Amino acid sequence: MNIVLGITGGIAAYKTPELVRRLRERGADVQIVMTASAEEFVTPTSLQAVSGRPIRTNLWDKEAEASMSHIELARWADLVLIAPATAEIMARLAGGGAPDLLTTLCLATEAPIAIAPAMNRVMWANPAVQANRDMLEQRGMRILGPDVGSQACGEEGAGRMLDPDDIAAAVCDPEFAGAVVDGPLAGKTVLVTAGPTREPIDPVRYITNRSSGKMGYAIASAAHAKGARVILVSGPVMLQEPNGVEVQRVETAEEMHAATHASIVDVDIFIAAAAVADYRPADRATQKIKKTKDTMSLELVRSPDILASVAALGDVPFTVGFAAETERVRDYALGKLENKKLDMIVANRVGSDCGFDYDDNSVEVLWAGGERAFPQMAKTELAHELMDLIVERFTSTRGPDTQPALSIVSIKD
Ligand code: PMT
Repeated sequence: MNIVLGITGGIAAYKTPELVRRLRERGADVQIVMTASAEEFVTPTSLQAVSGRPIRTNLWDKEAEASMSHIELARWADLVLIAPATAEIMARLAGGGAPDLLTTLCLATEAPIAIAPAMNRVMWANPAVQANRDMLEQRGMRILGPDVGSQACGEEGAGRMLDPDDIAAAVCDPEFAGAVVDGPLAGKTVLVTAGPTREPIDPVRYITNRSSGKMGYAIASAAHAKGARVILVSGPVMLQEPNGVEVQRVETAEEMHAATHASIVDVDIFIAAAAVADYRPADRATQKIKKTKDTMSLELVRSPDILASVAALGDVPFTVGFAAETERVRDYALGKLENKKLDMIVANRVGSDCGFDYDDNSVEVLWAGGERAFPQMAKTELAHELMDLIVERFTSTRGPDTQPALSIVSIKD
């Protein structure tokens, strides 16, 4: 789980190094964003040491923005947790202001937001604070605490920040994440295929391709951020599993085909980003093949076309294909859009210098009656842009305003 921990300026900020440790013990990656007044209570140096990440304090820090902009940070987060949350930050969140990095990020994120208020008991009881509390809760924010007990000011009552261990246990509980995940795809299931397949020749050799899985994994993550249940059917890759996503690992095209069809019945959107081997060896040798001849031939047979088989189902999910091409990218993509009967196709130029394995990508998306080009950008960023478009098209074609499909001129792949 990627957690942006916003720390604001209350005395309970001194407990945040402990909170970071508790979150990390539960497997969360924690990126800290501090307000200026938080720095009066706890130092960025301590927090950097316990979080293992540079601390973000300033919206106008050019160097930090260049490495991960506040928008990327907003997208990176599976959860924004503000602890301690002062009366001031609650008022800013309720009013929708964005004078600093933390409030800007809260406006820009699609991730759920949870706050752990901490303040003097009289402040907490103030009607203005309570009105802000109610408004934030109505908008879907989770309010954790506050606790009742002795306060730093020497008074006794409600206003203490919850114990760091209790906050960490609450936000890392899968039911908490499930309860707060919201977005345009809440209640929908998205199935993504990613990575290459491996087609064995004998026990030690196989046919494969250069797909790293980065594009498909980023799409799975972006779909999860939009509130969907996400199933990721992945070929063999070296990537960390995206948070909150159900990963099914496969090796061959036939296994990917079987895993996809085993789950497809509940799927609303199918996105085929995998580079599936079109052919596989007709026979798999049971022992290592020996080099007895100067030349050898392998007979290859066609693998099942997973994307086409899903698009041919009776009750078809919204189906998005990729077309990885080295030439006539748009023409071949249009052909696949029509021949495979897809809702959308992502035309992806690939070669020794682009597409496969790189961290960046540029694509053109085509559908019946429309197209959109996406310039070179990080695959993680592109995935969010693609998911925005997919949601837009999914809603307009499967919603009440369904448009008739236009005809397409195509060529064979
Ligand atoms: O993994 P990365 O290193 O990040 O690289 C990303 C990518 C280049 C692999 C990705 O962006 C991409 O373009 N994926 C599709 C690769 C591909 O195999 O394209 P294709 O044109 O050969 O296939 C067309 C479509 O049919 C694809 O959606 C593919 O997943 C699907 N297909 C193909 C063959 C097959 N047997 N079954 C399929 O489902």
